[in-house]
Amino acid sequence: MSVLHRLVSCLPMALTQLLVALAAVVAAVAAPGPVPAGWSLHRRADPTAFIPLKFSLAQSNLDKLEAFLLDVADPRSPKYGQHWSPAQVKETFRPSKETVDTVHGWLTHGAGIHADKIRLNPTGEILQLNVTIAEAERLLNAEYYVYSDNEDGSVRYGCHDGYTLPDHVSKHVDFVWPTVHFGGPHAVSRRSEDISPSGRFGREGGASTLPIENIENLATAGCDTSVTLDCLRELYNFDFTPVSGDVNTVGVAEFGANVYRASDLDLFFNMFRPDQVGHIPTLISVEGGNPNASGSVGEPSLDIELMMGLLGPGQNLSLYQVAQPLQTLDPTDELLAALDGSYCLVDPVSSEGITDCGDKPATNVISISYHFNPDLNDPTISPVVQRQCSEIGKLVLTGITVIASSGDGGVAYSQSHECLTPSGVLTAGNPNGSFVGQLPASCPFITAVGATSVAPGGSTDQVEMSTTDFPSGGGFSNNFARPSWQDAAVQNYLDNFVPNYAASVFNRSGRAYPDVAANGWPLVIAQNGVFVKSGGTSASAPIFASVIAAVNDARIAAGKSTVGFINPALYSDAFSGAFNDVVNGTNPGCGTEGFPAAPGWDPVSGLGTPNFEKLRDAFLALP
Ligand SMILES: *[C@@H]1O[C@H](CO)[C@@H](O)[C@H](O)[C@H]1NC(C)=O
Ligand SMILES: *[C@@H]1O[C@H](CO)[C@@H](O)[C@H](O)[C@H]1NC(C)=O
Ligand SMILES: *[C@@H]1O[C@H](CO)[C@@H](O)[C@H](O)[C@H]1NC(C)=O
Ligand SMILES: *[C@@H]1O[C@H](CO)[C@@H](O)[C@H](O)[C@H]1NC(C)=O
Ligand SMILES: *[C@@H]1O[C@H](CO)[C@@H](O)[C@H](O)[C@H]1NC(C)=O
Ligand SMILES: *[C@@H]1O[C@H](CO)[C@@H](O)[C@H](O)[C@H]1NC(C)=O
Repeated sequence: MSVLHRLVSCLPMALTQLLVALAAVVAAVAAPGPVPAGWSLHRRADPTAFIPLKFSLAQSNLDKLEAFLLDVADPRSPKYGQHWSPAQVKETFRPSKETVDTVHGWLTHGAGIHADKIRLNPTGEILQLNVTIAEAERLLNAEYYVYSDNEDGSVRYGCHDGYTLPDHVSKHVDFVWPTVHFGGPHAVSRRSEDISPSGRFGREGGASTLPIENIENLATAGCDTSVTLDCLRELYNFDFTPVSGDVNTVGVAEFGANVYRASDLDLFFNMFRPDQVGHIPTLISVEGGNPNASGSVGEPSLDIELMMGLLGPGQNLSLYQVAQPLQTLDPTDELLAALDGSYCLVDPVSSEGITDCGDKPATNVISISYHFNPDLNDPTISPVVQRQCSEIGKLVLTGITVIASSGDGGVAYSQSHECLTPSGVLTAGNPNGSFVGQLPASCPFITAVGATSVAPGGSTDQVEMSTTDFPSGGGFSNNFARPSWQDAAVQNYLDNFVPNYAASVFNRSGRAYPDVAANGWPLVIAQNGVFVKSGGTSASAPIFASVIAAVNDARIAAGKSTVGFINPALYSDAFSGAFNDVVNGTNPGCGTEGFPAAPGWDPVSGLGTPNFEKLRDAFLALP
């Protein structure tokens, strides 16, 4: 009996040990899956911690989005310019009752989640759950970890090894958040060099102030060596005084700890735009974003000085300052949620999740000089970026224009020059491999802007070339198909100018970008109390956004609607004279020369740089 007892009492112990051993084996097998670049596996998540899980429900009528857009944005359409109301957009794309009921029913009946832990957001697009990590793991058949960002050490939850949903549920769910998708805001490589009195360039922060006499010399120097507001006005025929500034709106988005200093704006305005001295952008704070916080000034200085400089005091600039209170929030979602409510949680006072829900005004034009995701066809990225791109499509359907930098890595992703190596791994440093674009620029509902420079020794009378100081981002999307409006232009390039790359090098059927170009180097701006040369496609986007804001100014004055989604018009015959065709330059990357610029549209400079007066007149000729 005692022997038996010992045996019996031993059994649970052996089982426990066996289970521990098994768990260790499972963990050992599961843990080494690829952790997304830029993140480190920190530890297994605490099973008792609460996590806000969001189920993004499949929307209705998304397959018709492109047709709806063409109906109001194709210059040949009788309904050109008749943008949709936000309410019409909401009703048209709201997930069906069947979708909501199926997912809700599975969670409550199938998975035993108490109904009071489940909320549907106001637009009916997101089911949010407040569950423990252990419950989330059971629901999704996943393992949750805590990851830390290699750059700033911030942490977040995720399950890089993937998750699964039952078959009957998965077709109703675009994706669950946070799981496999690891985004993060990155300013498009804003390049900047201190202008030192000796004329030698140092890195940003090298802190040498340029005496005012030298800055004056600089302002009269050639536009090939220092690009001032006057250079931009001459290049783009863009001498602009607003007449509709009391009703027209234009905005720029800054994310995370990227903030401007009013003293830098004044330093710049004193020199180049005296009537703007003392003015700052109008703050639209998203998720508590505060430009007075400490942070990096490079990107906002560039964007805000250029836009306020070009537009002048007759047109206010709105600043979407988007904070990132939680690492589990995707900054793109935060901005989109603030504008249209689509990503919001139900409880606007909850300390977890997005709190600005469709309560911020959308300006007629929004400029974005950040990139958030590589354009990889990958289950950890595609569902999320496709959803974000659809949200942008819904936004532009209401008469908003969204403009973004095409990137500074050429045909490689970002300034770390990442390419997809033959083994299928995104690898930094321009390895041989296939080309990788970037979001949001590759979303077809965005107008993507590449970078040009005045040729060495050249003047503003000549058409610029694609910048050679860095490779301007461009190429073909791995996530989005080529839209009809750019079909002819892109096919012309593929038929006549594309280098003889193997089929695996880039996706010939993808959405091609950039759409247009504008100067990206070397712009004279003020930051951190000194004048510097700065740029990147980071500069090109706000310059082009200013031009489109000025087009809206003219249309509003003529009693017409804003231009909204401009891409179908830009590629149409009626606009063929509105751009200076950039034909020189390439965008190297991934061990190649990238693509060459060419007559007509090309994946380095798009359709070319704008001629404001012609562009404005072409848009004014439309209903
Ligand atoms: C989630 O539920 C727990 C337990 O009920 C609660 O303490 C916590 O505040 C909830 N979190 C949110 C964001 O509602
Ligand atoms: C710009 O904003 C300021 C402050 O809100 C306002 O006083 C001014 O009238 C605005 N300017 C225009 C042109 O609407
Ligand atoms: C930032 O600081 C300025 C000057 O002190 C102040 O007027 C403004 O209200 C502050 N903005 C915010 C959002 O705190
Ligand atoms: C990359 O490709 C280039 C051009 O085909 C070739 O010369 C070079 O050796 C390749 N490099 C590697 C590391 O494979
Ligand atoms: C190319 O783009 C299309 C979308 O047009 C996509 O379906 C396809 O998977 C992409 N191919 C690759 C290799 O990424
Ligand atoms: C573009 O290239 C052509 C031919 O190579 C050359 O003649 C022309 O000067 C170049 N233009 C610029 C702006 O560099």
